[in-house]
Amino acid sequence: MSYFKNPFIYGGRVSGDAFCNRESEIQELLGDIRSRQHVILSSQRRFGKTSLVWKVLEEAQKDNIIPVYVDLYPISTLGEFIEEYAKAIARTLTAFDKAKRLMRGLFSRVHLSMGVDPAGNPQWSVGFDRTRETETFDEVASSLENYLNRRSNYGVVVFDEFQQITETDGEKTERRLRSAIQTHEHVSYLFVGSKKHLLHDLFSNPNRPFYRSGKIFPLEKIDPGHLKRFIEKRFNEAGVDIDGKTSGLIVETTECHPYYTQYLCHILYDIMEERRIRTDDVPRAIDFLLRRESTAYMNTWDLLTHRQRQALVALSETGPGENPFRPEILRRFNISQPSVMIRALKSLVDKDLVDRANGRYEIIDLFFKRWIKTAISMNSHG
Ligand SMILES: Nc1ncnc2c1ncn2[C@@H]1O[C@H](COP(=O)(O)OP(=O)(O)OP(=O)(O)O)[C@@H](O)[C@H]1O
Ligand SMILES: [Mg+2]
Repeated sequence: MSYFKNPFIYGGRVSGDAFCNRESEIQELLGDIRSRQHVILSSQRRFGKTSLVWKVLEEAQKDNIIPVYVDLYPISTLGEFIEEYAKAIARTLTAFDKAKRLMRGLFSRVHLSMGVDPAGNPQWSVGFDRTRETETFDEVASSLENYLNRRSNYGVVVFDEFQQITETDGEKTERRLRSAIQTHEHVSYLFVGSKKHLLHDLFSNPNRPFYRSGKIFPLEKIDPGHLKRFIEKRFNEAGVDIDGKTSGLIVETTECHPYYTQYLCHILYDIMEERRIRTDDVPRAIDFLLRRESTAYMNTWDLLTHRQRQALVALSETGPGENPFRPEILRRFNISQPSVMIRALKSLVDKDLVDRANGRYEIIDLFFKRWIKTAISMNSHG
């Protein structure tokens, strides 16, 4: 029985002691915000973008910069975008201004009302004329700038899961938001997104409204030294002994991926027999994790085409820095042209199973890769 709570958290935003370092990223982003440089922060899924931006917003607030966080994940229409954005602004400004005055002064086209949720927290709801969405959007998009301009104050807006904007109204919303933002002098914008290729297209395609409108900031994995110390500290604080060799093996196994590191450590904590972790425990934890995920992996696998499966098997076997286009690989899978393999790889990128960085394809989930290697490759090549 353990008296401590498992100190490793995987999934969702982490903060406080559960957040490892990222000091240089925090400082760089703060510098950008202070100089009102718009930034596009992107990475694979679960690299810690949301956790990082919340940390940055906390720091920005200490600098008297007003932080607004908008989660676009749930939106798929312009109306929903307006709602989320107006609510996010109202939620933040309530901390700085009188609610009543806010409700009167902030918007003319949006009616704000404040209630409380079952837990007793204030909750805003918004109403507006649904036949006047575009005008309402323009008003909301400029409201924070106008508010801050009147008070000679500065702010930062984070649009998390910004690629969702493409779900709304073709490029119309992009264009409207872009033209509003262009004139803003009191707000910096941080566009955050997980579907790297989609977000990339928004900002690097000359035909898109957001072309070159900010600095591209690709978020990398966490530094191995920092991550090792983080693991040791978290275990130690929960009364668990771990040596440097073992923490080294953990970050080597997870390739410093923040989410998978926390996941593997969480399992290690759960399966440890005494309050001690040793190198032998790592392969046991990996087996445990693979067994736990196998149904999900199998479901993913079942939905793939024959070619996509072949591409994954080939990828799971290629070494770092290599692509699975070599003639002997293609021959093995009976593929006549590299283009067939490339097409399959691209479709896997669209499904967020594979990432393409610096011309190299790789399987995103490194435990899925392990699963393919053990459960699939050894049995068949189908
Ligand atoms: N700085 C960090 N220190 C420790 N763990 C982290 C850190 N950042 C992320 N993680 C781990 O990764 C998980 C996902 O973090 P977060 O939700 O911030 O990532 P994300 O990139 O926003 O993910 P998504 O692509 O799903 O939006 C966390 O639950 C945690 O386990
Ligand atoms: Mg996120």
